Order: sequence, then structure tokens, then C-alpha cells
Amino acid sequence: MFKIRKASKSDSAGISRLTKKFSTTLSRGPEEISRLARNFFVAENQKGKIVGCCGFKKWDSDAEIIALIVDSPYQKKGLASRLFGKVLGQLKKTKSVEKIFVLSTKDVAEKIFSPAGFFPAGIQMFSRKVGEDCRRCRKNRLDCKGRYLCDEIVLVYKNPKGRRNLK
Ligand SMILES: CC(C)(COP(=O)(O)OP(=O)(O)OC[C@H]1O[C@@H](n2cnc3c(N)ncnc32)[C@H](O)[C@@H]1OP(=O)(O)O)[C@@H](O)C(=O)NCCC(=O)NCCS
Repeated sequence: MFKIRKASKSDSAGISRLTKKFSTTLSRGPEEISRLARNFFVAENQKGKIVGCCGFKKWDSDAEIIALIVDSPYQKKGLASRLFGKVLGQLKKTKSVEKIFVLSTKDVAEKIFSPAGFFPAGIQMFSRKVGEDCRRCRKNRLDCKGRYLCDEIVLVYKNPKGRRNLK
């Protein structure tokens, strides 16, 4: 019923539609999505419409899992687990990737990322991410009562196939 496949540049619009609809954190513009499109897997319904996506962004020798999204009518059917599994599987085989990390809310982390072997970590470990992405994130500010809006946690997975992690 649903096809999970590697994305290409021509899927940028479909991926952008999902990120625009669901992202409450970072707003990624069309150029960024187009640049990253080949790092994505997408889920297609029978009509060929993109109903889910998950990708990664490389930060030196680390890789961040980004934009794990499944459109509302298609949720709770296991699509996120399949999409995430594909991206993680690809990254695990990549020797130049030492650490794989993701930013997520606690509930999603507990359901999807912790069971796959991801552990809570500090964002300071990923200083380029903080300097480039967190800086422009909608949640990186205080609300009117002075409370910090970011409710995301960082989870990390050490890639056993990563060159520097090999014993
Ligand atoms: C989070 C999201 C990707 C899950 O997609 P999905 O296709 O419904 O997930 P799956 O069907 O693969 O479910 C995987 C597991 O997570 C659980 N789960 C799914 N969404 C959840 C949520 N929002 N909170 C808690 N648990 C959730 C499912 O119940 C399932 O658990 P089970 O295996 O014990 O039944 C989807 O709800 C979504 O796109 N949300 C908006 C964007 C978002 O928050 N993305 C996460 C960014 S890291």
C-alpha cells in the first residue's frame, strides 16, 4: 500500500509540504530542502503522493536525523518507524559517520528513538548545530513569562561502523 523509497531532488516540493505543515522548530526553506533531498527517504501512497519523510543532515563526522514526519491521515500505521529505520540503516553503514543524533520531544523519543538504541545527550556536543540551526529556531526564545520555549531533547547513537569507533 505504501512505498518507502529513496528521495531525489524532484521530491523537494513533497518534502517541503510536510515540513511546512508540521515543523514547530526550524523552518527549512526550499533551497535547503532541495540541497538535502537526496538524504531523504519518503513514503508514497498508491496515488504517488508523498505522505511521509525522514532525512539526515551531515555535520562534519556526525549526522543528524531530520524531519521525521508522517501526514495526519497516515499516522499510527508504522510509517515513521519504517522511514526512520531506512535512514538509520543507511547511516549505520557509512564509515564516515561517527555519531548519529536527533532532536525530538520526549514522547516521540521514548517511542521511536530510545528503542533503537539512542541515548540522551547534551546539545553542547554538537556545537555547529547550536551555532547554525538552533540559532534560527522558532523555539530558541523565551515566552512572555520568561520561560524558555525549547522542549526538545537530544539523543545520540554511536555508530559502531564509524571509522574512529572501530576497535
Ligand atoms: C511522530 C510521527 C512521525 C510518528 O509517525 P507514525 O507513522 O504515526 O509513527 P509509527 O506509526 O511508526 O509509530 C511508532 C511508535 O510511536 C508511537 N507514536 C507515534 N507518534 C507518537 C507521538 N506523537 N507521541 C508518542 N508516541 C507516538 C506509535 O504509537 C508507535 O508505538 P507502538 O509501536 O508502541 O505502537 C508523526 O506523529 C508526526 O509526523 N508528527 C509530527 C511531526 C513530529 O513530531 N515529528 C517528530 C520529529 S523528531
